[in-house]
Amino acid sequence: MEQQTSHSTIDNPLREGLSLERLPSPCAMVIFGASGDLTRRKLMPALYDLALEGLLPPGFSVIGFARSAKTNDEFRSEVRESIRQFARRTPIDEGLLRNFEEGISYISGDFSSLDDYNRLSEELDRLDRERNTRGNRVYYLATPPVAYAEIAGNLSHQNLVHSLNDERWTRLIVEKPFGHDFNSAKELNETLLQYLAEEQIYRIDHYLGKETVQNMLAFRFANGIFEPIWNRTFIDHVQITVAESIGIENRGGYYDQAGALRDMVQNHMLQLMSLVSMEPPPAFDADSVQDEKVKALRSIRPIKPDEVDHVTVRGQYAEGWVMGNPYPSYRDESRVDPQSVTETFVALKLFIDNWRWAGVPFYLRTGKHLPRRVSEIAIQFHKAPHPPFETSVTESLEPNVLAIRIQPDEGITLKTNAKVPGPSMRLRSVNMGFLYGTSFLVESPDAYERLLLDCMLGDSTLFPRRDGIEASWEPITQILEGWERSGISTLPMYPAGTWGPDEADDFMARDGRLWRQP
Ligand SMILES: NC(=O)c1ccc[n+]([C@@H]2O[C@H](COP(=O)([O-])OP(=O)(O)OC[C@H]3O[C@@H](n4cnc5c(N)ncnc54)[C@H](OP(=O)(O)O)[C@@H]3O)[C@@H](O)[C@H]2O)c1
Repeated sequence: MEQQTSHSTIDNPLREGLSLERLPSPCAMVIFGASGDLTRRKLMPALYDLALEGLLPPGFSVIGFARSAKTNDEFRSEVRESIRQFARRTPIDEGLLRNFEEGISYISGDFSSLDDYNRLSEELDRLDRERNTRGNRVYYLATPPVAYAEIAGNLSHQNLVHSLNDERWTRLIVEKPFGHDFNSAKELNETLLQYLAEEQIYRIDHYLGKETVQNMLAFRFANGIFEPIWNRTFIDHVQITVAESIGIENRGGYYDQAGALRDMVQNHMLQLMSLVSMEPPPAFDADSVQDEKVKALRSIRPIKPDEVDHVTVRGQYAEGWVMGNPYPSYRDESRVDPQSVTETFVALKLFIDNWRWAGVPFYLRTGKHLPRRVSEIAIQFHKAPHPPFETSVTESLEPNVLAIRIQPDEGITLKTNAKVPGPSMRLRSVNMGFLYGTSFLVESPDAYERLLLDCMLGDSTLFPRRDGIEASWEPITQILEGWERSGISTLPMYPAGTWGPDEADDFMARDGRLWRQP
């Protein structure tokens, strides 16, 4: 059913990074929450960039749906501004932008009002007639999470969801956070599944749209040399770091309820961990990949409430400086409880209880207002068993580390030991590196471009499945329950601009290890 594109990929090398030579069938996208921040900063710019690369189907149309009153023209002008500000490729192609805008309209409505869904239905019918969108729909829930179930239910009641047997397709993209613990995630899954089939639900985790994350699968499974050593026999431990230099920005209301564990670990970091640790899938299709990821997540060793304090460290930022700018403490941020014990930093140690990983710790750490923005996965190998050098030489020997850098400077480095040139045997560690930016003369697409396109193509490989979401909430919920029981009134503090509280270093030191300084 998907059509071949008329553009050649040779004419446009940028397309190399996206799904080659596939074009979605005609469709309309409805963005619920179209006056919000995500639509402005990410969704509209990503759609424009897809249009620029010739990857949108003919007649592609977007209906923005939100509460604020606006005319079509006002919404289009806001979209134009957001594209000018945030599109990946500049300068803006004004002719293309005008064409893109012709397909954009806006409905001012409330998520709870059935009348407003009737107006939406009329607008979709108009697009089918006038722009030949053929009854195919993507619904994007860029809304507060409380609205997800209500919108899905109302779409279904107003006959805006086609069944899987219909030749017209319906797909629903659901943003994060997906639930706030295991039970709420399960309940949300059950509710959505009353209205749509699993194949129609795309739970987005934008980390999975990043090139380096997908490259990890290529790296592991397209090369013969890594998989044989990808196990407990050769690997000492794994460190996954997602450090942010920004604070909570204007999201105090949301963040104070969520915290770093829910905001970053449950989704992005456990997804990364499952990709590092999963068994090779028999094929690179959605179910084969999800099956292996879910098996890895389900093998995470359960954490008992009285163990939680031994396997986690929490922290909260105090006032400090990040990259030359002063910042207030977390408790002084707007819409944050001045007595808050919400963690802005968390470090944890998890084990995967299976043959490949038995006894190998996975250390995860994330935080706000750390010294810089960096995400990486570091695989640290065992030290060489018997280096035949004098003790003075071997003391400085460092273990080999394979570091997969997700952002910024996407690439992979392998730390090895080498001889320093000169008459004596002196060793020093050096890096062998591959950088995306220099190895491929194409710019990586934004994660949202990739994921929006995959959804339109009906490819859910990069979207977590129901069982994956629930499996990732299990250890997180065990930790949350353990923290709840401990009933502490304050958290270890770290000055903004440092790598977390001292307790995080002590946590590693107890295991005889050190955090990397990426
Ligand atoms: N922003 C990001 O970078 C980001 C990143 C990752 C995930 N997310 C997730 O994406 C979702 C949206 O985030 P956001 O930052 O864009 O939120 P936001 O700026 O607060 O926007 C919320 C949108 O929902 C609309 N809305 C809320 N209640 C409504 C109702 N009853 N009827 C109709 N419209 C209603 C708002 O319309 P009005 O303003 O017109 O009332 C607005 O368009 C959230 O789930 C968030 O967690 C956001």
